[in-house]
Amino acid sequence: MSKIENIKLSLDQFVVDTNEKLESFRLQFLSKKSELQELLSEIKNVAPEQRKDFGQQVNQLKQYAQQLFDDYKLKLESQITYNQSDIDVTRPANGIQVGSMHPVTIVLNQVCEIFEKLGFVPVSGPDIEDDWHVFSALNFAPEHPARDMQDTFFVDVNPEMLLRTHTSSIQVRVMENSQPPIRVICPGRVFRNETITARSHCIFHQVEGLYIAEHVTFADLKQVLLFFAKEMFGEETKIRLRPSYFPFTEPSAEMDIECKICGGKGCNVCKYSGWVEIMGCGMVDPNVLDNCGIDSKKYSGYAFGIGIERMTMLKYKTNDIRLYFENDVRFLQQFSAATE
Ligand code: DAH
Repeated sequence: MSKIENIKLSLDQFVVDTNEKLESFRLQFLSKKSELQELLSEIKNVAPEQRKDFGQQVNQLKQYAQQLFDDYKLKLESQITYNQSDIDVTRPANGIQVGSMHPVTIVLNQVCEIFEKLGFVPVSGPDIEDDWHVFSALNFAPEHPARDMQDTFFVDVNPEMLLRTHTSSIQVRVMENSQPPIRVICPGRVFRNETITARSHCIFHQVEGLYIAEHVTFADLKQVLLFFAKEMFGEETKIRLRPSYFPFTEPSAEMDIECKICGGKGCNVCKYSGWVEIMGCGMVDPNVLDNCGIDSKKYSGYAFGIGIERMTMLKYKTNDIRLYFENDVRFLQQFSAATE
Protein backbone atom coordinates (compact mmCIF):
# COMPACT_ATOMS: atom_id res chain seq x y z
CA MET A 1 0.00 0.00 0.00
CA SER A 2 2.83 2.39 0.79
CA LYS A 3 4.25 1.72 -2.68
CA ILE A 4 0.96 2.81 -4.17
CA GLU A 5 1.10 6.05 -2.24
CA ASN A 6 4.69 6.68 -3.26
CA ILE A 7 3.91 6.18 -6.91
CA LYS A 8 0.89 8.51 -6.66
CA LEU A 9 3.12 11.14 -5.07
CA SER A 10 5.76 10.92 -7.79
CA LEU A 11 3.04 10.99 -10.44
CA ASP A 12 1.72 14.26 -9.03
CA GLN A 13 5.14 15.80 -8.76
CA PHE A 14 6.26 14.87 -12.24
CA VAL A 15 6.30 17.94 -14.49
CA VAL A 16 5.76 17.29 -18.21
CA ASP A 17 6.44 20.27 -20.45
CA THR A 18 8.40 18.77 -23.32
CA ASN A 19 8.11 15.70 -25.51
CA GLU A 20 11.22 14.26 -23.86
CA LYS A 21 9.65 14.54 -20.42
CA LEU A 22 6.50 12.94 -21.77
CA GLU A 23 8.57 9.95 -22.86
CA SER A 24 10.27 9.73 -19.41
CA PHE A 25 6.83 9.85 -17.84
CA ARG A 26 5.72 6.93 -20.00
CA LEU A 27 8.84 4.90 -19.18
CA GLN A 28 8.54 5.57 -15.47
CA PHE A 29 4.84 4.94 -15.02
CA LEU A 30 3.37 3.08 -17.95
CA SER A 31 6.03 0.85 -19.50
CA LYS A 32 6.29 -2.92 -18.89
CA LYS A 33 9.22 -2.36 -16.54
CA SER A 34 7.60 0.38 -14.47
CA GLU A 35 6.96 0.02 -10.76
CA LEU A 36 3.28 0.34 -11.40
CA GLN A 37 3.34 -2.60 -13.83
CA GLU A 38 5.18 -4.64 -11.22
CA LEU A 39 2.45 -3.87 -8.69
CA LEU A 40 -0.14 -5.01 -11.21
CA SER A 41 1.56 -8.37 -11.63
CA GLU A 42 1.80 -8.76 -7.84
CA ILE A 43 -1.95 -8.62 -7.36
CA LYS A 44 -2.22 -12.40 -7.69
CA ASN A 45 0.32 -12.92 -4.86
CA VAL A 46 -1.55 -10.83 -2.30
CA ALA A 47 -3.42 -12.61 0.47
CA PRO A 48 -6.99 -13.35 -0.68
CA GLU A 49 -8.71 -11.16 1.94
CA GLN A 50 -6.71 -8.08 0.87
CA ARG A 51 -6.54 -8.88 -2.82
CA LYS A 52 -9.72 -7.16 -3.91
CA ASP A 53 -8.95 -3.91 -2.18
CA PHE A 54 -5.34 -3.89 -3.35
CA GLY A 55 -6.27 -4.78 -6.92
CA GLN A 56 -8.80 -1.95 -7.07
CA GLN A 57 -6.31 0.63 -5.87
CA VAL A 58 -3.54 -0.46 -8.24
CA ASN A 59 -5.93 -0.39 -11.17
CA GLN A 60 -7.20 3.06 -10.23
CA LEU A 61 -3.63 4.29 -10.06
CA LYS A 62 -2.92 2.81 -13.48
CA GLN A 63 -5.96 4.61 -14.93
CA TYR A 64 -4.88 7.83 -13.25
CA ALA A 65 -1.39 7.58 -14.75
CA GLN A 66 -2.81 6.85 -18.18
CA GLN A 67 -5.18 9.83 -17.96
CA LEU A 68 -2.34 12.16 -16.96
CA PHE A 69 -0.27 10.89 -19.86
CA ASP A 70 -3.10 11.45 -22.36
CA ASP A 71 -3.74 14.97 -21.06
CA TYR A 72 -0.06 15.94 -21.24
CA LYS A 73 0.19 14.53 -24.74
CA LEU A 74 -2.84 16.51 -25.97
CA LYS A 75 -1.55 19.66 -24.40
CA LEU A 76 1.86 19.32 -26.03
CA GLU A 77 0.33 18.58 -29.40
CA SER A 78 -1.80 21.71 -29.29
CA GLN A 79 1.18 23.88 -28.46
CA ILE A 80 2.61 24.31 -31.92
CA THR A 81 5.71 26.32 -31.47
CA TYR A 82 7.06 28.51 -34.23
CA ASN A 83 10.52 29.55 -34.85
CA GLN A 84 10.62 33.35 -34.75
CA SER A 85 12.19 33.46 -38.22
CA ASP A 86 9.35 31.38 -39.76
CA ILE A 87 6.83 34.18 -39.25
CA ASP A 88 6.51 37.00 -41.76
CA VAL A 89 4.23 39.52 -40.08
CA THR A 90 4.30 41.79 -43.14
CA ARG A 91 2.64 39.19 -45.39
CA PRO A 92 -0.89 40.23 -46.46
CA ALA A 93 -3.63 38.18 -44.81
CA ASN A 94 -5.97 36.01 -46.86
CA GLY A 95 -8.62 38.38 -48.21
CA ILE A 96 -12.21 38.08 -47.08
CA GLN A 97 -14.37 37.05 -50.03
CA VAL A 98 -16.96 39.73 -50.68
CA GLY A 99 -20.00 38.90 -52.79
CA SER A 100 -21.11 41.11 -55.67
CA MET A 101 -24.53 42.32 -56.71
CA HIS A 102 -26.42 40.09 -59.10
CA PRO A 103 -26.52 41.75 -62.55
CA VAL A 104 -30.33 41.51 -62.61
CA THR A 105 -30.50 43.32 -59.26
CA ILE A 106 -28.14 46.02 -60.51
CA VAL A 107 -30.30 46.71 -63.57
CA LEU A 108 -33.56 46.45 -61.60
CA ASN A 109 -32.28 49.09 -59.19
CA GLN A 110 -31.15 51.33 -62.05
CA VAL A 111 -34.56 51.15 -63.70
CA CYS A 112 -36.27 52.06 -60.44
CA GLU A 113 -33.88 54.95 -59.83
CA ILE A 114 -34.58 56.46 -63.24
CA PHE A 115 -38.33 56.44 -62.65
CA GLU A 116 -37.95 57.66 -59.08
CA LYS A 117 -36.27 60.77 -60.52
CA LEU A 118 -39.56 61.44 -62.33
CA GLY A 119 -41.58 61.08 -59.14
CA PHE A 120 -42.65 57.42 -59.42
CA VAL A 121 -42.91 55.70 -56.04
CA PRO A 122 -41.84 52.03 -55.74
CA VAL A 123 -44.40 49.57 -54.34
CA SER A 124 -44.43 45.78 -54.10
CA GLY A 125 -47.07 43.06 -54.05
CA PRO A 126 -47.34 39.31 -53.38
CA ASP A 127 -45.71 36.70 -55.67
CA ILE A 128 -48.61 34.30 -55.02
CA GLU A 129 -51.78 35.93 -56.24
CA ASP A 130 -55.43 35.22 -57.04
CA ASP A 131 -57.14 35.21 -60.42
CA TRP A 132 -58.75 38.62 -59.84
CA HIS A 133 -55.53 40.59 -59.43
CA VAL A 134 -53.59 38.80 -62.18
CA PHE A 135 -56.36 38.39 -64.78
CA SER A 136 -59.99 39.35 -64.13
CA ALA A 137 -59.49 42.92 -62.93
CA LEU A 138 -57.15 43.46 -65.88
CA ASN A 139 -59.88 42.67 -68.39
CA PHE A 140 -58.71 39.17 -69.35
CA ALA A 141 -61.74 37.36 -70.77
CA PRO A 142 -62.60 34.09 -68.93
CA GLU A 143 -61.33 32.02 -71.84
CA HIS A 144 -58.13 34.04 -72.42
CA PRO A 145 -55.23 31.67 -73.21
CA ALA A 146 -52.92 33.31 -70.61
CA ARG A 147 -55.08 31.75 -67.90
CA ASP A 148 -54.26 28.34 -69.29
CA MET A 149 -52.18 25.84 -67.32
CA GLN A 150 -49.76 25.97 -70.24
CA ASP A 151 -48.76 29.48 -69.24
CA THR A 152 -49.61 29.80 -65.57
CA PHE A 153 -48.34 27.93 -62.52
CA PHE A 154 -51.24 27.17 -60.19
CA VAL A 155 -50.81 26.34 -56.52
CA ASP A 156 -51.43 22.60 -56.00
CA VAL A 157 -53.17 22.81 -52.63
CA ASN A 158 -55.38 25.73 -53.70
CA PRO A 159 -56.05 26.06 -57.45
CA GLU A 160 -57.66 29.46 -56.84
CA MET A 161 -54.15 30.77 -56.20
CA LEU A 162 -51.38 31.13 -58.77
CA LEU A 163 -47.88 32.51 -59.20
CA ARG A 164 -48.27 35.93 -60.78
CA THR A 165 -47.45 35.91 -64.48
CA HIS A 166 -46.81 39.65 -64.54
CA THR A 167 -46.36 42.54 -62.12
CA SER A 168 -49.45 44.23 -63.57
CA SER A 169 -51.24 42.56 -60.64
CA ILE A 170 -49.63 45.17 -58.38
CA GLN A 171 -51.17 48.06 -60.32
CA VAL A 172 -54.59 46.55 -59.55
CA ARG A 173 -53.79 46.48 -55.84
CA VAL A 174 -52.55 50.09 -55.95
CA MET A 175 -55.68 51.35 -57.76
CA GLU A 176 -57.95 49.46 -55.38
CA ASN A 177 -56.30 51.13 -52.43
CA SER A 178 -55.73 54.71 -53.57
CA GLN A 179 -57.12 57.50 -55.74
CA PRO A 180 -55.36 59.57 -58.45
CA PRO A 181 -52.95 61.10 -58.89
CA ILE A 182 -51.15 57.73 -58.84
CA ARG A 183 -47.54 57.43 -59.99
CA VAL A 184 -45.96 54.10 -59.03
CA ILE A 185 -43.40 51.57 -60.20
CA CYS A 186 -43.75 47.96 -59.13
CA PRO A 187 -40.63 45.78 -59.35
CA GLY A 188 -40.91 42.03 -58.80
CA ARG A 189 -40.40 38.42 -59.82
CA VAL A 190 -42.85 36.76 -62.20
CA PHE A 191 -43.42 33.16 -63.22
CA ARG A 192 -44.50 31.52 -66.46
CA ASN A 193 -44.73 27.93 -67.52
CA GLU A 194 -42.37 28.41 -70.45
CA THR A 195 -39.69 26.28 -72.02
CA ILE A 196 -36.31 27.46 -70.84
CA THR A 197 -34.17 28.67 -73.75
CA ALA A 198 -31.39 31.20 -74.31
CA ARG A 199 -34.05 33.94 -74.61
CA SER A 200 -36.73 32.98 -72.09
CA HIS A 201 -37.01 31.49 -68.62
CA CYS A 202 -39.84 30.36 -66.34
CA ILE A 203 -38.79 32.93 -63.71
CA PHE A 204 -37.89 36.49 -64.55
CA HIS A 205 -38.31 40.06 -63.31
CA GLN A 206 -40.46 42.94 -64.40
CA VAL A 207 -40.89 46.55 -63.41
CA GLU A 208 -44.44 47.74 -63.89
CA GLY A 209 -45.19 51.44 -64.16
CA LEU A 210 -48.53 53.21 -63.71
CA TYR A 211 -49.51 56.85 -63.95
CA ILE A 212 -53.10 57.98 -63.49
CA ALA A 213 -54.32 61.56 -63.31
CA GLU A 214 -56.56 63.91 -65.26
CA HIS A 215 -55.80 64.42 -68.98
CA VAL A 216 -52.97 61.90 -69.29
CA THR A 217 -52.22 61.13 -72.95
CA PHE A 218 -50.19 58.73 -75.07
CA ALA A 219 -47.76 61.59 -75.76
CA ASP A 220 -46.90 61.67 -72.03
CA LEU A 221 -46.18 57.95 -72.13
CA LYS A 222 -43.90 58.29 -75.16
CA GLN A 223 -41.89 61.09 -73.59
CA VAL A 224 -41.36 59.21 -70.36
CA LEU A 225 -40.26 56.06 -72.20
CA LEU A 226 -37.84 57.97 -74.41
CA PHE A 227 -36.36 59.65 -71.34
CA PHE A 228 -36.01 56.24 -69.71
CA ALA A 229 -34.26 54.65 -72.73
CA LYS A 230 -31.76 57.51 -72.96
CA GLU A 231 -30.99 57.44 -69.25
CA MET A 232 -30.53 53.70 -69.34
CA PHE A 233 -28.63 53.19 -72.58
CA GLY A 234 -27.23 56.60 -73.46
CA GLU A 235 -28.31 59.79 -75.23
CA GLU A 236 -28.02 58.26 -78.73
CA THR A 237 -30.39 55.38 -78.03
CA LYS A 238 -33.21 54.91 -80.54
CA ILE A 239 -36.62 53.56 -79.56
CA ARG A 240 -39.46 52.20 -81.66
CA LEU A 241 -43.11 51.77 -80.67
CA ARG A 242 -45.13 49.09 -82.43
CA PRO A 243 -48.91 48.72 -82.10
CA SER A 244 -49.79 45.67 -80.02
CA TYR A 245 -52.55 44.18 -77.93
CA PHE A 246 -52.97 43.74 -74.15
CA PRO A 247 -56.38 43.21 -72.54
CA PHE A 248 -55.73 45.98 -70.00
CA THR A 249 -54.57 48.80 -72.29
CA GLU A 250 -56.15 50.55 -75.23
CA PRO A 251 -54.33 51.49 -77.36
CA SER A 252 -51.41 49.15 -76.61
CA ALA A 253 -47.86 49.14 -77.88
CA GLU A 254 -44.56 47.35 -77.52
CA MET A 255 -41.35 49.28 -77.23
CA ASP A 256 -38.12 48.15 -78.86
CA ILE A 257 -34.67 49.60 -78.53
CA GLU A 258 -31.86 49.17 -80.97
CA CYS A 259 -29.98 45.95 -80.19
CA LYS A 260 -26.92 46.85 -78.16
CA ILE A 261 -25.35 43.44 -78.57
CA CYS A 262 -24.88 43.56 -82.33
CA GLY A 263 -25.31 47.34 -82.73
CA GLY A 264 -28.35 46.74 -84.95
CA LYS A 265 -26.62 44.31 -87.34
CA GLY A 266 -28.56 41.23 -86.21
CA CYS A 267 -27.82 38.47 -83.67
CA ASN A 268 -29.62 35.68 -81.78
CA VAL A 269 -30.82 38.07 -79.06
CA CYS A 270 -32.62 40.40 -81.50
CA LYS A 271 -33.61 37.49 -83.74
CA TYR A 272 -31.57 39.14 -86.47
CA SER A 273 -33.89 42.17 -86.63
CA GLY A 274 -31.59 44.75 -85.02
CA TRP A 275 -34.31 45.63 -82.47
CA VAL A 276 -35.11 44.14 -79.07
CA GLU A 277 -38.46 44.39 -77.36
CA ILE A 278 -38.05 45.52 -73.76
CA MET A 279 -41.56 46.40 -72.68
CA GLY A 280 -45.28 46.45 -73.27
CA CYS A 281 -47.22 49.65 -72.66
CA GLY A 282 -50.41 51.55 -73.39
CA MET A 283 -53.25 53.66 -72.06
CA VAL A 284 -55.05 51.95 -69.18
CA ASP A 285 -58.35 50.53 -70.47
CA PRO A 286 -61.30 52.40 -68.87
CA ASN A 287 -62.76 49.00 -67.87
CA VAL A 288 -59.71 48.36 -65.73
CA LEU A 289 -60.05 51.76 -64.02
CA ASP A 290 -63.71 51.04 -63.28
CA ASN A 291 -62.92 47.48 -62.05
CA CYS A 292 -60.52 48.98 -59.53
CA GLY A 293 -62.76 51.78 -58.26
CA ILE A 294 -61.38 54.70 -60.28
CA ASP A 295 -63.72 56.99 -62.22
CA SER A 296 -62.81 56.41 -65.88
CA LYS A 297 -64.79 59.50 -66.96
CA LYS A 298 -62.61 61.77 -64.90
CA TYR A 299 -59.22 60.07 -65.03
CA SER A 300 -56.98 58.48 -67.63
CA GLY A 301 -53.55 56.93 -67.34
CA TYR A 302 -50.77 54.96 -68.92
CA ALA A 303 -49.02 51.78 -67.85
CA PHE A 304 -45.92 49.89 -68.94
CA GLY A 305 -44.20 46.64 -68.01
CA ILE A 306 -40.44 46.28 -68.50
CA GLY A 307 -38.68 42.90 -68.77
CA ILE A 308 -35.55 43.19 -66.66
CA GLU A 309 -33.59 40.14 -67.85
CA ARG A 310 -33.86 41.22 -71.47
CA MET A 311 -32.50 44.64 -70.52
CA THR A 312 -29.72 43.13 -68.46
CA MET A 313 -28.67 41.06 -71.46
CA LEU A 314 -28.49 44.21 -73.55
CA LYS A 315 -26.69 46.19 -70.90
CA TYR A 316 -24.02 43.56 -70.25
CA LYS A 317 -23.98 42.03 -73.73
CA THR A 318 -24.86 38.54 -72.52
CA ASN A 319 -26.55 36.29 -75.05
CA ASP A 320 -28.02 33.60 -72.79
CA ILE A 321 -30.64 34.34 -70.10
CA ARG A 322 -29.92 31.03 -68.34
CA LEU A 323 -26.60 32.40 -67.08
CA TYR A 324 -28.54 34.61 -64.66
CA PHE A 325 -30.09 31.62 -62.90
CA GLU A 326 -27.21 29.16 -62.77
CA ASN A 327 -25.44 31.05 -59.98
CA ASP A 328 -21.99 30.22 -61.29
CA VAL A 329 -19.72 32.39 -59.17
CA ARG A 330 -17.27 32.81 -62.06
CA PHE A 331 -20.04 34.51 -64.03
CA LEU A 332 -21.51 36.52 -61.16
CA GLN A 333 -18.15 37.84 -59.94
CA GLN A 334 -17.82 39.94 -63.09
CA PHE A 335 -20.54 42.34 -62.01
CA SER A 336 -20.02 44.90 -59.37
CA ALA A 337 -22.42 47.66 -58.39
CA ALA A 338 -19.42 49.81 -57.42
CA THR A 339 -18.22 50.02 -61.02
CA GLU A 340 -21.59 51.19 -62.28
N1 DAH B 1 -48.01 42.65 -68.26
C1 DAH B 1 -47.46 42.59 -69.60
C2 DAH B 1 -46.68 41.32 -69.77
O1 DAH B 1 -46.25 40.75 -68.82
C3 DAH B 1 -46.57 43.77 -69.84
C4 DAH B 1 -47.35 45.03 -69.90
C5 DAH B 1 -47.88 45.46 -71.11
C6 DAH B 1 -47.55 45.78 -68.78
C7 DAH B 1 -48.59 46.61 -71.21
C8 DAH B 1 -48.28 46.96 -68.87
C9 DAH B 1 -48.79 47.37 -70.11
O2 DAH B 1 -48.51 47.73 -67.81
O3 DAH B 1 -49.45 48.51 -70.17
O4 DAH B 1 -46.46 40.91 -70.89
